[in-house]
Amino acid sequence: MYFRGESTAVEGSNVIDSGRVTLSNSFMVNDNRASEVAAILRTRAASMRVGEKMPPVRQLSSEFQASAATVSQAIAQLQALGVVKAEPGRGTFVLGRDRGPEPDYSWQSQSLGHARVDARRTSRLGAYGTADDIQLSWGYLAPELQPLEDLRSLGARAARSPRAWMMAPPFGLPDLRRVFSEEFHTDPSDVLIVPGGQQALVYALRTLAEPGSTLIAESPSYPGAMIAAQAAGLELVAVPADADGIRPDKLADALERTRATVIYLQPCYANPTGAVLSASRREEVLRLAARHGAFIVEDDWARHLSIDGRAPAPLFTQDPDGHVVSIATLSKSAAPGLRVAAIAARGPAGERLRTARIADDMCVPPLVQEVALSLLTSNAWPRHLKRLRSHLAERRDVMLGEIVAKLPDVRVPHTPQGSIHLWAKLPEGTDTAALAAAAQDAGVLIGDGGHFYFDEPPAAYIRLSYGAASVPQISEGIRRIARLMERQ
Ligand SMILES: Cc1ncc(COP(=O)(O)O)c(C=O)c1O
Repeated sequence: MYFRGESTAVEGSNVIDSGRVTLSNSFMVNDNRASEVAAILRTRAASMRVGEKMPPVRQLSSEFQASAATVSQAIAQLQALGVVKAEPGRGTFVLGRDRGPEPDYSWQSQSLGHARVDARRTSRLGAYGTADDIQLSWGYLAPELQPLEDLRSLGARAARSPRAWMMAPPFGLPDLRRVFSEEFHTDPSDVLIVPGGQQALVYALRTLAEPGSTLIAESPSYPGAMIAAQAAGLELVAVPADADGIRPDKLADALERTRATVIYLQPCYANPTGAVLSASRREEVLRLAARHGAFIVEDDWARHLSIDGRAPAPLFTQDPDGHVVSIATLSKSAAPGLRVAAIAARGPAGERLRTARIADDMCVPPLVQEVALSLLTSNAWPRHLKRLRSHLAERRDVMLGEIVAKLPDVRVPHTPQGSIHLWAKLPEGTDTAALAAAAQDAGVLIGDGGHFYFDEPPAAYIRLSYGAASVPQISEGIRRIARLMERQ
């Protein structure tokens, strides 16, 4: 027997048994008993669905052998905690999953060990800003430049076909593999369909290189390739690139020093610089790969984003011996949400890539493969690419012109012949991270050049993308950057 709180009720012993509590009878509200009832109801609410109704007070009162006032007080306590909501005349409803005591996850970090993928790099890659921001850092096309009308109608048609809902072959739809094989001038059996270029990168790196081995990448380069390397457990070694692509002398040194067997390159309109690997360097790079028994992962992401002239043929087409493994994606030229890409690879490496694929995933959803196939084989595709070329030309030229007119201290050393990015050099000592942060505050998203280097950036750069912003937005965005730079 004990007396507690302000209540004058006499409490007897209580027994908790499988969630049922037997309390001695009382006729008055007792804070302590109400808290006990509340604690049990809280546990019970945690196992109920959101919106589910609690038993009525009368029933709880008889279950707990407590007064209706005590049960009501218990419910009031739970309401104050946000566990339930009492609606007069209707009853008491569970509001949200009650988490109970704060969980302790500290053991997890010890068990997990080091994180492979650098979370700061992933968060930058996925930083999309808000709908009101002017997008000068987005690596995809603005909706008005995507073939959305075609995708909608082809999508609706594909969804009506029973094929869209059946399992597709693990390597991809045969006709889609054939379409991609034509771009690589290879046999359709060399092609594997995968869900997007990023997945293709991680998958290819993981399959071609042993964890702990070295990946050589040109620098600056696509930050997603850096995190793909991390996800595959590879050490990254950066080799400088210039307007003609990766420097073969430095690549030779790195291959000698690291014994790496995989090299990541973007020979066609590299992100971020727009560089195209020159004809002589293509030969040299292939010779080096042959000498060192290395693979080249060719990220051919921008093939359909040519502006001036034609994109050079994929490096894959110059390599008969299976050193080059190429990746093509439709995310850039069609729509980012399509998530259809292809890996082309010959010899045992191709065999491995194709046979191991099912360990990751049974197949790429046939619906999106059907849509991609219909798009690539329809008249809409060449029409779309033609229109895209002229819009990208206009946006690129407007951006270049605005930079010259409004940012006298900024230089674009190389005008890209394709793709959607300008690589702009700022005065020495400019804090590009601070500028990108200030620009975001001013409603303009730009790419801090530091993100495109695995090691320290050798100079101050920003990446300005013209694929996702309209012409007036490009002008306004550059105007706002100019204002910020004047203040610096
Ligand atoms: C150079 C490069 N490779 C690959 C990708 C990944 O493309 P996807 O959206 O197909 O995964 C990107 C996307 O930004 C990219 O810039």
